[in-house]
Amino acid sequence: MEKLVVKGPTPLKGEVTISGAKNAAVAILPATLLIDGVCTIENLPNISDIKIYCTILEKLGAKITWNNEHSITIDTSNITTTKAPLDLTSKFRASYYMIGAMLSRKGEIEVGMPGGCKLGARPIDQHIKGFELLGANVTVEKGKIYAKAKKLKGCPIYMDIVSVGATINVMLSAVLAKGTTIIDNAAKEPHIVDVANFLNTMGADIRGAGTDVIKINGVEKLKGNATYSVVPDQIEAGTFMLAAVATRGDLLIKNCITKHLESITAKIIEIGGNVEDNGDSIRVWCTKRPNRATIKTLPYPGFPTDLQPQMGVVLSLANGTSTINESIWDSRFQYTEELNKMGAKITAHGKTAFFEGVKKLYGAPVYSSDLRAGAALVIAGTAAEGETEIYNLEHIDRGYENIEEKFRKIGAKIERVTE
Ligand code: EPZ
Repeated sequence: MEKLVVKGPTPLKGEVTISGAKNAAVAILPATLLIDGVCTIENLPNISDIKIYCTILEKLGAKITWNNEHSITIDTSNITTTKAPLDLTSKFRASYYMIGAMLSRKGEIEVGMPGGCKLGARPIDQHIKGFELLGANVTVEKGKIYAKAKKLKGCPIYMDIVSVGATINVMLSAVLAKGTTIIDNAAKEPHIVDVANFLNTMGADIRGAGTDVIKINGVEKLKGNATYSVVPDQIEAGTFMLAAVATRGDLLIKNCITKHLESITAKIIEIGGNVEDNGDSIRVWCTKRPNRATIKTLPYPGFPTDLQPQMGVVLSLANGTSTINESIWDSRFQYTEELNKMGAKITAHGKTAFFEGVKKLYGAPVYSSDLRAGAALVIAGTAAEGETEIYNLEHIDRGYENIEEKFRKIGAKIERVTE
């Protein structure tokens, strides 16, 4: 078993470079199934979710050449099966994008129910509603999803809930459909724009991504034959911004799009931190104990749920009592029990948690319940006095590239140890 051992407290200082966005990359990889040919993807994060996705695509018949650890050339001209490997697809959430992509490309798919972080109920009714409105037949049975369609036909689709996954999935299924699809009440996250940009580069006709109405004019074929670079990871950038504040450090975070970070920048300034926005890099520093705050997570451009645990560490150490209201997931406060083991004073009731700020956190053995909880514990361990041992690293490795190396380069005393 592996664990991370962090010795603190260390104010994080120096420069860190942000990798490609996990949640864009895990949609762009299945989107290559829409191409009857070859394309190159660059700036892929080197994380386990990407490696698993590449293996799934290879099992479907795609040919992948790794140009380096962040770039692949993929040939999807010969897709030989419509059955995705169940053991792999149930390992993570984004396997559901194969439904939209394969319905478009092959008119059929059998895939395991998606896995991923356990954050409470994660229904996919809006995905299914979209596929059915486009003309597909979808059955969910014995842990598997079967979807079938002769020829999908574009139509208006109103999303009852703002959903990242459903917006992308329906977009994937509409790209090769006959006629026009209009997704109303669409999600607006940067990775939705990135997936649309990728598809348009390959020959699709998608307009309005990044607004709440996306119009997709179906095309006959995606020609591919192009190179696309994945957008920088907004959540990884936000993780380091909050790490700078929690440890009272000074970080220059490079290769990010600061426009995507506005809700985090605003909160950091509100609690007394400092931010210098350079467009493609951002400097964050903090010299005093942060002030209390009230946070409500919301779909983009609101404060992201995927930075809620990392912000929870900052507020655990703030002056006064803070409140976080989690409006997206039912169960995203599991990390608070771990922070309490480190001396935090947090009470969580349902979707609201109260953080009575303490002056110091202390090292303790802690368990990562999900990906962002894991990142929060790395920040907490760096800010805390003494030694913190973090277990369940498979969650962190799914979504953060070389987390310990990146933290070590900015001063953290962190080691991966095999027990
Ligand atoms: C994506 O999950 C991300 N995952 C999540 O990141 C992120 O927390 C979430 O968006 C919100 O930003 C990926 O992109 C792979 P949703 P997704 O559909 O698409 C409800 C991380 O740490 N809903 O936007 O699954 C749902 O229950 C991960 O990187 C329905 O009711 O999220 C939730 O309350 C964790 N029916 C809300 O909508 C549906 O059909 C938003 O979910 C779909 C969703």
